[in-house]
Amino acid sequence: MNGYSIAVVPGDNIGPEVIAAGCRVLERLQDLGLCRFAFEHFPWGAGHYLRTGRAAPEDLVARLRPFDAIYFGAHGDPARVPDRVGSRELMHPLRQGLDLYVNLRPARLLPGVPSPLRDPGDIDFVVVRENTEGEYAGAGGRVHRGGPDEIAVQTTVVTRRGAERAMRFAFELARRRGGKRHVHCVTKSNALAHVMELWDETFALVAADYPDIRTGKSHVDAMSMYLIERPAAFDVIVASNLMGDILSDEAAAITGSVGLAGSANLNPARSGPSMFEPIHGSAPDIAGRGLANPLGAIRAAALMLDWLGERGAARLVDGAIDATLAAGHPRTRDLGGDAGTGAMTAAVLDRLDAPHATAPHR
Ligand code: NAI
Ligand code: MG
Repeated sequence: MNGYSIAVVPGDNIGPEVIAAGCRVLERLQDLGLCRFAFEHFPWGAGHYLRTGRAAPEDLVARLRPFDAIYFGAHGDPARVPDRVGSRELMHPLRQGLDLYVNLRPARLLPGVPSPLRDPGDIDFVVVRENTEGEYAGAGGRVHRGGPDEIAVQTTVVTRRGAERAMRFAFELARRRGGKRHVHCVTKSNALAHVMELWDETFALVAADYPDIRTGKSHVDAMSMYLIERPAAFDVIVASNLMGDILSDEAAAITGSVGLAGSANLNPARSGPSMFEPIHGSAPDIAGRGLANPLGAIRAAALMLDWLGERGAARLVDGAIDATLAAGHPRTRDLGGDAGTGAMTAAVLDRLDAPHATAPHR
């Protein structure tokens, strides 16, 4: 039985609620004899900022680097701490410091899950979001603070190397998926002429190395429309940091709920741990009431298992999630039901114990 060290960063508000659910699933896999986990918890986020004056210690990257993987909830408590603190001191240092240059966000419409679209078709695509630079590079600042001449500058950074490695990952993924074998490039080179032209040129260069993969390209504004009009047409979508962030929330909404989607922040070179999280935020509006849908966090745990090479365990967890959704109950409020986090988690755990009673996965 293989063992893994997991750094758990639950975060704030519903972060700890959904991460506890995910950890129960991982512990159950351990009880079933599939793999072992040594968890270490790091209480970082807005709460940590209120207690210590920082969202995370300055050496956070060095502290998490020795782990096999990082399991992250969601940080943020905007009523008490400005959101930029957590981004600057916790999220972006991890993504940049651990070189987690791909943010992978699968979007699949599952049986039993209602889509807000009238005729969604068979939605099954993955957003590959560049995760270390772009609009979220953190370059910029504010001067003449508070005065009438105050200036804020936030510079988008696109590098040929940064764009290329995210795009190569997207093409390799399209090959591995073996489905539509299509990569769609999201851009905005009509308006952001400098950075997105380099992005487009890099895409054309990378695409030339993958003649077996078809390609497409759209400006992000049109893309937000196409995801609603014909989401089933897409396979792998590659986008910059901000654009991928926005489109993947849209993708979560058309496949049922933001509470269902998991994501992986990957260091494909495997020079350090990768990080796995639900795509949603800390949802302060529903925190502390046991209402959060834990399936996004549990899906993120399955992505983690898959990345660690525990394919069988990953498939077991994915199958338990899918079967729970296909059964139509229990359902949390975001899916139109009235079940809580606990009931949803228990339903997944039951199916881990009796996997053969579940519907076949895919
Ligand atoms: P959010 O994703 O937290 O919430 C948006 C809406 O979705 C809310 O109505 C919320 O109740 C609902 N929702 C989210 N997760 C849910 C779940 N698991 N089950 C049921 N409903 C769910 O986004 P919002 O409101 O923009 O941000 C809240 C805080 O989270 C902010 O501080 C923000 O900065 C932070 N945030 C953190 C992220 C991270 O840690 N990676 C990502 C996005 C936001
Ligand atoms: Mg987001």
